[in-house]
Amino acid sequence: MPTRQTRARPAQRPGPNQRGNGLSRSQEWFGGHDLEGFLHRSGLKAQGWPEEAFSGKPVIGIANSWSEATHCNAHLRELAQHVKRGILAAGGFPLEFPTISLGEFFLQPTSMLCRNLMAMDVEEMIRGLPIDGVVLLSGCDKTTPAMLMGAASADVPAILVTGGPQLKGNWRGVELGSCTDCRRFWIELRAGRITQEEYDSMESAIYRSPGHCMVMGTASTMAALTEAMGMTLPGGADIPGADARRSAHAQQAGARAVQLAIEGIRPSQIMTAEAFENAIRLLLAIGGSTNAVIHLTAIAGRAGIKLPLDLFDDLSRTTPMILNLKPSGEFLMEDLYYAGGIQAVLGRISPLLELDTRTVTGKTLGQNIQDARVHNDAVIRTMENPIYREGGIVALRGSLAPDGAILKQTAASPSLMTHTGRAVVFENYKDLHERIDSPGLDVTPEDVLVMKNAGPVGGPGMPEWGMLPLPKKILQKGVRDMVRLSDARMSGTAFGTVVLHVAPEAAIGGPLGLVRNGDMISLDVPARKLDLLVDERELSRRRAQWKKPAAHYDRGYGRLHVEHVMQAPDGCDLDFLVGKTPVGH
Ligand code: FES
Repeated sequence: MPTRQTRARPAQRPGPNQRGNGLSRSQEWFGGHDLEGFLHRSGLKAQGWPEEAFSGKPVIGIANSWSEATHCNAHLRELAQHVKRGILAAGGFPLEFPTISLGEFFLQPTSMLCRNLMAMDVEEMIRGLPIDGVVLLSGCDKTTPAMLMGAASADVPAILVTGGPQLKGNWRGVELGSCTDCRRFWIELRAGRITQEEYDSMESAIYRSPGHCMVMGTASTMAALTEAMGMTLPGGADIPGADARRSAHAQQAGARAVQLAIEGIRPSQIMTAEAFENAIRLLLAIGGSTNAVIHLTAIAGRAGIKLPLDLFDDLSRTTPMILNLKPSGEFLMEDLYYAGGIQAVLGRISPLLELDTRTVTGKTLGQNIQDARVHNDAVIRTMENPIYREGGIVALRGSLAPDGAILKQTAASPSLMTHTGRAVVFENYKDLHERIDSPGLDVTPEDVLVMKNAGPVGGPGMPEWGMLPLPKKILQKGVRDMVRLSDARMSGTAFGTVVLHVAPEAAIGGPLGLVRNGDMISLDVPARKLDLLVDERELSRRRAQWKKPAAHYDRGYGRLHVEHVMQAPDGCDLDFLVGKTPVGH
């Protein structure tokens, strides 16, 4: 059968507005009265669509990361129906298709290993399908950045809709935030302060509605940054997944996608350098997830924009943290929605923002937020009365991290921000788990827990192992925080004085790989310094003896990943995926 696939595929297809209208891509598939046009039209008619349903109309893809293995995205099939309503009502034709879906709970060894794989999937589906625009349906941590990375590289008109945050958890009258409180109570269980029965009974009380984790973890953070960048409609980050207004939001996004396609407004016109700077400002003001530093850098890389780690740190010094949400504060996403949402937070920090950036509403960011109001000052503080006078995340450098490391200062202990301690070293995650609770472990609360080989190559995939558990015997003394450091990431819901993303990572020969038990390590957050206090002669001797850890993969996607993944300060994208090849250019 001479389908399009059996013919040589043109390197690029015309994009929206390349011929003065927004329908050129879909019309190439469905408009011709030849064999190809016959086959393409009959493919839709085979699904029960009459010709007038799609003929001459903008075709809007719905890239759906629904999956029962991604519980945060498990309701996206229902949400897609609301997107379709909006597309149809606005005179478009919806074409829903699945993407890879990445869930934090079920995917081994880590969802991060597959973020770039999902981004490739999204890009190639957008590139290959007969669509004039696309609605990106995401939710859980990696699905939002992967969608935006793929959309940035394909550069077809796009708008993102997440499944929204869950409602607040509630256990015996205590409000619970996923998964900050599951970690907090796990620490209490290990310390012997609550019973196993009590801990188990929280399981059905903490995740009780559709949506993603409802603290300011990675999913909430990425949704918020998407709103700051202008790639989602106002309210996109905070309307709860169980709220009828989430369905209405999805419907409005579907309708708006039709207009974006007709007008030919591409992600490259929205995700500009100024828009990324707005996103960084918001990340710092909301005490957002450390993972966002990596994801934002990777998305920007697809758009051809560099976001050096120092830019995050420079902006951090002049951006107060004003949002009082867990894990850095007290409240949850539902409270943020009632308090005015991300639009109100953007309004509060508007003197720090570039307000002329374009958004998917067709208006500028400044126009979007001009009527935003704060309804609860305890949740969204003013810049004059912040939670923290600087931004949530700082960048560190020094002899232990020549290319940088990060720390979430708003989730750290003030008493540990300047600290020198003796290294207690674990060679990898397995070693950590085998020895951390060993009664014979030589450790004191003043020591620095160090884990190696958990980076983009060494993990592999840079798992969220960075919040190293405190040794049981330290917990039993009543201590709840120590300085911990690694080349891993940390869940956006986690907390503690935790140095992350140490680069270069241990597995490729970074100084972290040379640290030994008993070495002194100095952390100075105000000076942004992280140093290994070992003289250079000794380090040279160790470097000569250092052996690269055995490779994790000899074939398949894993091998592609470890051979091409970039380090954390470059966003952990695969080196050959950086940049864009816009459809139609
Ligand atoms: Fe999906 Fe937390 S597990 S956002």
